[in-house]
Amino acid sequence: MSDPSRSSTAAEWTTRDADVVWHGFTQMSVYAQNEPVIVDHAVGHHLVDVDGKRYLDAISSLWVNTMGHVEPELTAAAHAQLDRVAHSTMLGNGNRATIEFAERLAEIVPVEQAHILFASDGAAAVEQALKIAFQFWFNQGIHSRTSYLALGDAYHGDTVGSLALGAGGFGTELFDTLRFPVSRTPGYADPDWAEKAVRALTEYGDSLAAVILEPLVQGASGILVAEPADVRQFVETAQGFGIPVICDEVATGFGRTGAMFASEICAIRPDIMVLGKGIAAGYIPLSATVVANRVYETFLGEDLGERTFYHGHSFSGHALGCAVGLRHLELFVERDILSNVALSADHLTRRLDKDIAPLGPVAAVRQQGLMVGVELRATGDGSLTAGLAARRVCAEAVRRGVLLRPLGAVVVIMTPLSFDTTELDEVVDTLADSIAAVFETESA
Ligand SMILES: Cc1ncc(COP(=O)(O)O)c(C=O)c1O
Repeated sequence: MSDPSRSSTAAEWTTRDADVVWHGFTQMSVYAQNEPVIVDHAVGHHLVDVDGKRYLDAISSLWVNTMGHVEPELTAAAHAQLDRVAHSTMLGNGNRATIEFAERLAEIVPVEQAHILFASDGAAAVEQALKIAFQFWFNQGIHSRTSYLALGDAYHGDTVGSLALGAGGFGTELFDTLRFPVSRTPGYADPDWAEKAVRALTEYGDSLAAVILEPLVQGASGILVAEPADVRQFVETAQGFGIPVICDEVATGFGRTGAMFASEICAIRPDIMVLGKGIAAGYIPLSATVVANRVYETFLGEDLGERTFYHGHSFSGHALGCAVGLRHLELFVERDILSNVALSADHLTRRLDKDIAPLGPVAAVRQQGLMVGVELRATGDGSLTAGLAARRVCAEAVRRGVLLRPLGAVVVIMTPLSFDTTELDEVVDTLADSIAAVFETESA
């Protein structure tokens, strides 16, 4: 076999990739032209491509990574569990690693007497939540509460049920006919959203099985941030009507917003909480539907009876993921990760205020903890829409060694929780340079 040059090696990998791998949310006909990063391995906060080029992972591998890659303690926890057992089914049986993780998780979630049904992806855990809320009423002999109240701009995943709860967009309109009808009230982009949401509760209350929201931050819609008091008002009103509240903390959970869970900042106690992404530090696909006892206990009844929750996934409660998840929670305490998040978030605020927000092409900067959205404008000469400009800016940043990815016109910065200020500075400096490069090029 010939010894290919470094660049031809990367090109070869890209071709091999495009030949057989179908990438989500990606137009495959131009995939190769968009210079994808083909990862070979990682070192700490850097991904290293097949050419040996390093990229600072400023999107936490799509918001899942919390403490860097190949973190020795987490890798050791995974190895130790692999030597015991990788996975065994949760259907009718248990696993020591899953029990230990669930016990620890139940202690820290703001959910009353938590019971935890695991899954593998965020969307699957949302799906579980909506079905649990639905059956909760049937278990009590009430058959009229079969719909949901969800927010505008919401995103809850891509399975058909979670897509129905989400507000759509992202090119998913084609599937609108598959989505079941959901009552919707404006999201956090509307300053009066809470008042309108409370009014919607009065209007639809009797028909609702549950309400669902992303507490504090609507992530996928471009990091839209709510006032904690508004979230609390909405949630407590719903709970006052006896309607179960599902808090989707797939994106906000595990330290991103500054607290372990955004619900804590809002001082709310969800009836059902959905966790994913950072739950196992980004190592193993794992998600969870955390259910308060008042909901859970309605499912108790006779063996094989109709109160049983007839739902379960093959990889639910994966022991490897749970072993990593447990060590991950210990590291949060041992390393005082939340203090680092607070310091980093403050540093980031200062840098964004000084070096990003004043830039002409920047329409808005939104931040909650280590979740940041930088919304761009279209180029002045109209040659690039805001969405295309955001894509170009991210591509430029990637060329400069910082991995960023846009959501529409918004460049999202979502670093691992363990970044230091030098790394945060590199992200901000690279973003500023990339914005300048794209907007100067386009107006030249
Ligand atoms: C709030 C929220 N819920 C659910 C999901 C879906 O999670 P997954 O992609 O793991 O299915 C996401 C993904 O971004 C999310 O942000």
